[in-house]
Amino acid sequence: MGDSHFLRILALIVLLLQCALADNYECPQKCVCLEQYVDCSNKKLVSVPRIPEWVEQLDLSHNKLSKDVTGGFDKLVSLKIIKLEKNALEIIPSFVDCIQVREINLNKNNIVSIDVGRFPVNSTINTLSLNINRIRIIQEGALNNLTNLITLKLNKNEITSLPNHLFMNQSNLKTLELNHNKINVINGLLFQGLSSLTTLKIRYNNIDNIMDGAFFGFKSVNVLQLDNNKIKSISKGWMYGLESLHTLSLSNNLISHIDLGAWELCTNLEVLNLSHNYLMEIEGRNFQYLINLRILDLHSNNISSISQEAFSHMVQLQTLLLNNNKISWTVEDMSGPFSKLQNLHVFNLAANHIKSISSRAFEGLTNVIELDLRNNNITSIQPHAFDSMTKLSKFQLNTSSLLCDCKILWMVKWIKEKLEHKYVSATCAYPADVRGTFIHKLKEENCGDSPKPKIVEHPKSHLAIKNREANLVCSATSNPSSNMTFLWRKNNGNVSNPTVFENVTLQGQQATSVLVIPDVSQMDSGKYQCVVSNKFGTTYSSKAKVNIVTFPRFIKEPTNVTVRTGETVTLNCAATGDPPPEISWKKDGGNDFPAARERRMNVMPTDHLFFIVNAKTTDMGVYSCAAKNPAGTIIANASLTVLQEPSFIRVLENKEVTSGDSVVLQCMITGSPKPVIKWLKDGSPIITSDRHFLTADDQLLIIINSKSSDAGHYECEITNELGTKKDMIELKVLPPVAIMVKEENMTGIIIITVVCCAVGTSTIWVVIIYHTRRRMAGAVRNYPTESVKMTQVVHSDSESPHIFPDNISEHSSCKDSGTGDSAKQTSFDGVPTERSEQVHFETALCHSYSPVPEAHKLLPSSFKPSIQVCVNTCVTPATYSFSSHNSNV
Ligand SMILES: *[C@@H]1O[C@H](CO)[C@@H](O)[C@H](O)[C@H]1NC(C)=O
Ligand SMILES: *[C@@H]1O[C@H](CO)[C@@H](O)[C@H](O)[C@H]1NC(C)=O
Ligand SMILES: *[C@@H]1O[C@H](CO)[C@@H](O)[C@H](O)[C@H]1NC(C)=O
Ligand SMILES: *[C@@H]1O[C@H](CO)[C@@H](O)[C@H](O)[C@H]1NC(C)=O
Ligand SMILES: *[C@@H]1O[C@H](CO)[C@@H](O)[C@H](O)[C@H]1NC(C)=O
Ligand SMILES: *[C@@H]1O[C@H](CO)[C@@H](O)[C@H](O)[C@H]1NC(C)=O
Ligand SMILES: *[C@@H]1O[C@H](CO)[C@@H](O)[C@H](O)[C@H]1NC(C)=O
Ligand SMILES: *[C@@H]1O[C@H](CO)[C@@H](O)[C@H](O)[C@H]1NC(C)=O
Ligand SMILES: *[C@@H]1O[C@H](CO)[C@@H](O)[C@H](O)[C@H]1NC(C)=O
Repeated sequence: MGDSHFLRILALIVLLLQCALADNYECPQKCVCLEQYVDCSNKKLVSVPRIPEWVEQLDLSHNKLSKDVTGGFDKLVSLKIIKLEKNALEIIPSFVDCIQVREINLNKNNIVSIDVGRFPVNSTINTLSLNINRIRIIQEGALNNLTNLITLKLNKNEITSLPNHLFMNQSNLKTLELNHNKINVINGLLFQGLSSLTTLKIRYNNIDNIMDGAFFGFKSVNVLQLDNNKIKSISKGWMYGLESLHTLSLSNNLISHIDLGAWELCTNLEVLNLSHNYLMEIEGRNFQYLINLRILDLHSNNISSISQEAFSHMVQLQTLLLNNNKISWTVEDMSGPFSKLQNLHVFNLAANHIKSISSRAFEGLTNVIELDLRNNNITSIQPHAFDSMTKLSKFQLNTSSLLCDCKILWMVKWIKEKLEHKYVSATCAYPADVRGTFIHKLKEENCGDSPKPKIVEHPKSHLAIKNREANLVCSATSNPSSNMTFLWRKNNGNVSNPTVFENVTLQGQQATSVLVIPDVSQMDSGKYQCVVSNKFGTTYSSKAKVNIVTFPRFIKEPTNVTVRTGETVTLNCAATGDPPPEISWKKDGGNDFPAARERRMNVMPTDHLFFIVNAKTTDMGVYSCAAKNPAGTIIANASLTVLQEPSFIRVLENKEVTSGDSVVLQCMITGSPKPVIKWLKDGSPIITSDRHFLTADDQLLIIINSKSSDAGHYECEITNELGTKKDMIELKVLPPVAIMVKEENMTGIIIITVVCCAVGTSTIWVVIIYHTRRRMAGAVRNYPTESVKMTQVVHSDSESPHIFPDNISEHSSCKDSGTGDSAKQTSFDGVPTERSEQVHFETALCHSYSPVPEAHKLLPSSFKPSIQVCVNTCVTPATYSFSSHNSNV
């Protein structure tokens, strides 16, 4: 206690000594002094009076100091705070002697520049205010000596640009204000050095360009105000250095675009003000990375479209201001666009052209306390729309357009039970008898159908083919009849310049709108929806997904190929399309590839190749390559020709036949193209007659009622482009066998010769009906021919598989066990009663083969048996003879 008393006295003595020693220790004239405080404000001073050197605080504000203050502050070594506000200074006075000065207020003067040489090295100044001057120019390095500056205010000047590296020495600066200037560009690295800056205000300038890295070096900035400039877009480039930013205001700019990923470098942002800009849509990733955002102000933009995922990152968001936009649709039709905002407390959707509210619009918003829906002409609100908002207490609604039909009664109840009425001033517009009634005063009374449009035909999802026309149809009814307007939307935005045909039917109660996409391109894919409004409200159709496909187009087409047997065949086929088409192959329109069965075929999808090795004639045919995708199918055909020398597939066999019997000579051949067969008997060409038939493409020579003159050497000569071959058969005709025949029974004999043969893949039935009249009995048969008919029935092997085992399918075969002995000849020379005829057939013919239809027709009408020919008889000519009393066929 004693010590401090002594020290105080000592200090007083020192002070008195100082005053006594100083030139002017007295208070300046007109001024008021209080200890080290000298107040010369409001004294109309035009020059700085003599100021005592002991001054620590000097107030010279509200005077008329102008140019001539040079030297005024020399030697003021103790000066700490000086106020020069509201004078007429044109330059900054020199403070180089004021080695202790901390605060200088030069607001409201006429200073036009900041020049070098005004502040001492390592200046102690920490606060410098130069608001409301006319500063245009800041000299390069002018602030270099102000190394201890903490606050610098340069608001309301005329600064258009700042020199580079201006703030290199301001590592202690915390607040920098440059509001209301004329800065238009922020160059990269402009603020380098401001490592302690926490607040930067550059509102009301002309900034339209923020260069990449403009804020680089800001390690500590947490408030950045760029409101009221001319910024057009937000990009990641200028976010470098803003890691600490928690408040960014960009209101009243011209922002219409936010780059994807823009916020990646400032994930600590908590408050973002983008109000009064030109944003039109919020896409899913526009606000990506803003996981800590608490307040998002988007009011007074031009937002009409919000994607489902737009706010899904912002779990922390507490305040979302979307008032004064055009987001009607999001609330009217989308389901749960805000559903991830579990922490939202304040939600403003005022003035958004919202006409109706769907039941799912506010799904997931469990913590909303304030919901503002004022200034929307809402006509209807679906039940349960606010169910999730159990904490809602301030619900603001002032529509006067409510459609008070039965469907609104839930709301009457909800307002009464859950809300404070004072914020709800909504009134009914329809039906007429309740117009103007406050919703919460509405009584439960007879109510009618909703007069909003009803969609009776929704647009349908489909695949649209590129470069063709695509249509989407939407029909709606309105009862009572009220003019409906249609609007088409695509991917949650309006369709620009749509081609739409509309027509109205049923006395104006039903209307149809057809959206025509005349020349579909890839850009037309998306989800389409029609929105129908009448004066009572708006109805949304379901969304139709239109996918664009392009028709397949060949880039490689197979070409006709000709090869010899044994060679390798290559067919090419490739096609493009969207989605990429699938390639498939067919042979002769079917899926049976002989080469595949024999493992000689290979399809190589990646090389678009189709191979057949060791080609055989069975491979011949038309190969079709089909390229198919949902848009359609295209087909390219190529014929494969396989050349093969003519050859005999069976050894030609010599034959013997009993005179009068039938015999078949076989010359079974192969070759490609199909060889021409020439039959020669003893060197001369065979002439077909009523006893000599050629069938099965001349491979069978059938001789009926053989005679000794038929004996001889039969030559079969076969020829195609690749050559000629011949071979020979010897036919012996044995003497006839004598048969006893009763004369009276021998008139009207019909001999049916059936030859069955396998040729290639077909069974050939040759039915020769030989009608004769026999008048004489005896050893020699005499068959004077009255008529001969031959018919050939071709049967595919698939219906008689027993005849052709698979392994011989490529050959022709006539399973003739030898006709020479006529062993299978069956002759019915018996009693011609109907009964006996039938007996004959049943015993002679067998059951496993269906009737030969042509043969049946050729039989006389008195013969009505169902002819069945046993498979086994197929191999030899079988001759059936019939006789009849009065047959005159
Ligand atoms: C810094 O102070 C020194 C010495 O007082 C002076 O010569 C110099 O011009 C000053 N620099 C600036 C940029 O004011
Ligand atoms: C200014 O301060 C720096 C660091 O504090 C010091 O190194 C330098 O000597 C000082 N300069 C003067 C002229 O006092
Ligand atoms: C101030 O900045 C100038 C130029 O960048 C530099 O040469 C000088 O050393 C700095 N002075 C202090 C005290 O940091
Ligand atoms: C956003 O900026 C506007 C205009 O400056 C202001 O009116 C509004 O209050 C700000 N929003 C928030 C949430 O601070
Ligand atoms: C708002 O968006 C609409 C299209 O939705 C556009 O026609 C209009 O020009 C925009 N208004 C402003 C001020 O950008
Ligand atoms: C809402 O209705 C009021 C009164 O009917 C009208 O003046 C106003 O223009 C309407 N607003 C909109 C956005 O349709
Ligand atoms: C409905 O549309 C028709 C034809 O466009 C028009 O003549 C009529 O005035 C409209 N009615 C109303 C109520 O707008
Ligand atoms: C109206 O639309 C329907 C359905 O698309 C159509 O069948 C009818 O021809 C259209 N009528 C007129 C007059 O265009
Ligand atoms: C391929 O062969 C088919 C018939 O076999 C024929 O119609 C077509 O013209 C041929 N194509 C070419 C390119 O020769």
